[in-house]
Amino acid sequence: MKNLNGMHITLYVSGSIAAYKSAVLCRLLIKAGADVQVVLTAAAAQFVTPLTFQTLTQRPVLTDLFSATSEDPIKHISVADWTDIAIVAPASADLLAKMAHGLADDAASSTLLATVAPKFVAPAMNSHMWQNPATQRNVAQLRADGVHFIDPGVGFLAEGYSGSGRLAEPEAIVDALSDFIRTSGQQLLAGRTVLVSAGGTREAIDPVRYIGNRSSGKMGYALARAARALGAQVTLVTTAPLPDPSGIATVRVESAAQMQQEMTDRFATSDITLMAAAVADFAPAEVAKHKIKKQPDTTGLDLQLQKTPDILASLGKRKRSDQFLLGFAAETDDLLKNASAKLAAKGADMFAANDVSNPAIGFGSDNNRVTLLTKDEDPLQLETASKDDLALNILKQIAIKLRDN
Ligand SMILES: Cc1cc2nc3c(=O)[nH]c(=O)nc-3n(C[C@H](O)[C@H](O)[C@H](O)COP(=O)(O)O)c2cc1C
Repeated sequence: MKNLNGMHITLYVSGSIAAYKSAVLCRLLIKAGADVQVVLTAAAAQFVTPLTFQTLTQRPVLTDLFSATSEDPIKHISVADWTDIAIVAPASADLLAKMAHGLADDAASSTLLATVAPKFVAPAMNSHMWQNPATQRNVAQLRADGVHFIDPGVGFLAEGYSGSGRLAEPEAIVDALSDFIRTSGQQLLAGRTVLVSAGGTREAIDPVRYIGNRSSGKMGYALARAARALGAQVTLVTTAPLPDPSGIATVRVESAAQMQQEMTDRFATSDITLMAAAVADFAPAEVAKHKIKKQPDTTGLDLQLQKTPDILASLGKRKRSDQFLLGFAAETDDLLKNASAKLAAKGADMFAANDVSNPAIGFGSDNNRVTLLTKDEDPLQLETASKDDLALNILKQIAIKLRDN
């Protein structure tokens, strides 16, 4: 899955003949949704020009450590701080050596040294340079420092013979970054409070019967776990008969009215609220005090239903601008049209629309596919994935939005 949506990626290009491939890599990163800043070494600029990357990224390329402007006097630090992921591709033997030793004598090495975000390197060099014990010592040091390697392949080198040291293909580099983002537990939500609702509500008819729905609660639980994995403090308000997830404050409710109460009480202190519960639209107008008996002379039973509170809309009305509210739209037809209408009506910041008519995804299934809708951007279709992976992906999108605001 190639989804780098909204990620700030700094692409470092160093002086290798493989530098021409980094223009393709840059293009693929942008296509996968990333915001890309390029840093070129002086040697790289002998192989490819800053203009190429400036045109592709629509951003000035950082090449000179001492080219301060009045708007950005310490450019290498602002680029380092802006970075979510750094990728050095191609990484020359020289730049690997500098990184391994903490040297900082040009724009690329200084910015890399100032970067705390995860760092990836994709080396490219002559096979003898790659196998040289000095290079291998530097590689071992960098691995020990937590730098991720996208190892060079074996193949035909520019020198005219086959050997190891060939830059990994740009597609493989993008895959490695997206896999990392999908699976890593970066603490993107550290210090945030997240409130999640899960499960289908049960609207009592009498002491033993209720009107329910097919929601399993799995998506809400996956969201709660993912928010916790990303460092948030999480409260889960749930109707689902699933065990309490560890490290998450779990509040048990049954009906829409109870869920509304518990959600409303906690809403003001939540930075992010995720309404994943399937709340009944109607509930019996009166709950029979005693079990309704089947009478021999009656052929049916008339139940008077009344509308339940619209929890999402009521939270949407209270929402402050520093809060984020996500709704789910489980639809069986006209998915995007219905979900967009709900987005406009309910005061939510984002809607995750899913097609519950497809039995392979949605209610009860371990997999799900959703499209994320926001007011100002094009719909973002996330690929079918386990509910855990999808939850992580949704929360990362939200974390990025909160950061960018
Ligand atoms: C034609 C040519 C191709 C080169 N290819 C590579 C290469 O693939 N890998 C590498 O590590 N160095 C290569 N070099 C050497 C580097 O460009 C040189 O070590 C330079 O100082 C690296 O600077 P940088 O790390 O700041 O980019 C090449 C040099 C030339 C002239």
